[in-house]
Amino acid sequence: MTPAGALLAAEIRRNGPVPFRRFMEVALYHPEYGYYRRVQDPFGKHGDFFTAEQIQPVFGVLMAARIRQLYREMGEPREFTVVELGAGRREMAAAFAEWNYVPVDIDSGAMPEHVAGVVFSNEFFDALPVVAAVYRNGAFHEQRVALVGGAFRWHSGEVVGANAERYLRRYYLPPEEGRWYEVNLEALAWLQRMAAALTKGYVLSVDYGFTRAESVRFPAGTLMGYRRHTAREDVLADAGLRDITAHVNFTALQDGGAACGLATVRFETLAETLLSAGEPDQFAAALGTGGAAEELRRRMQLKTLLFGMGETFRVLLQKKTEGEMVQRSGGKSPEQ
Ligand SMILES: C[S@@+](CC[C@H](N)C(=O)[O-])C[C@H]1O[C@@H](n2cnc3c(N)ncnc32)[C@H](O)[C@@H]1O
Repeated sequence: MTPAGALLAAEIRRNGPVPFRRFMEVALYHPEYGYYRRVQDPFGKHGDFFTAEQIQPVFGVLMAARIRQLYREMGEPREFTVVELGAGRREMAAAFAEWNYVPVDIDSGAMPEHVAGVVFSNEFFDALPVVAAVYRNGAFHEQRVALVGGAFRWHSGEVVGANAERYLRRYYLPPEEGRWYEVNLEALAWLQRMAAALTKGYVLSVDYGFTRAESVRFPAGTLMGYRRHTAREDVLADAGLRDITAHVNFTALQDGGAACGLATVRFETLAETLLSAGEPDQFAAALGTGGAAEELRRRMQLKTLLFGMGETFRVLLQKKTEGEMVQRSGGKSPEQ
């Protein structure tokens, strides 16, 4: 058993099956043994992510171009900060260097008290611990993790709490018997923190996920465990050695944002965002001037971004409103 697994097993022996949310929290974020906190770097070539090798610097250049558009829309203010939540290895640092860039991750940096500018994130919300639930006999039951013969097994627990119930009724289509769901209350809490910190500006979130109407596609829920670039559905194996994610419910982000003063400006695919960011200069800045080999490498990255990730990843742009009416200026509605 892994060290994180041993800690969880001890907790289960003491207190009985733990909520999945707790399992995910220890597996990913235990200060010593959590996946994101171990000494061994989960990112990069030998890690479990594709990110840097396959998409940088093109992703950074195009996202910076998108943020530059927002900067102009704000009238090019003298004070303009780009906060990145879940900045990981700070792969966006070079691209965002022209602004006051504040990377925040679990062990480093902190959300500034006041931000005028953009709060950016890429695959941040999908890494937050979620409540897992199954709908049975007319009620949502919290899924817990038990220990059976030395291995972790799912255990159906009590009916979920009132906040989770409200989330499930609101952000999913009417429940179906036997179906799995996830509840990301932490994402809503983060939106509130962002809204409180933003004095003026935008929240720009890139992630993969679904809307309420699309939730029907995931009868088995969306929990995934990643190890060495292979998506595996057994999220309870190798606690602390693999990433665990849950797709983001974008209807919840839009609705939760609206409730705390973050109005949706655009909701679109990553491909749509990148195409509009690269269109003004025909992708010249993204493809660079580093010679033929470098241009080829960057063209491959652009292809990965537009065709590999472009349709599954979504981009949600929200604007801090407080007393200001914002018109939806494009993109798809959450109900589509
Ligand atoms: C899937 S990784 C994405 C990293 C990077 N944005 C990228 O695209 O490669 C999620 C990141 O969110 C960070 N994270 C999770 N919970 C956090 C929290 N409460 N505060 C700050 N960062 C957090 C994790 O440590 C991890 O670096």
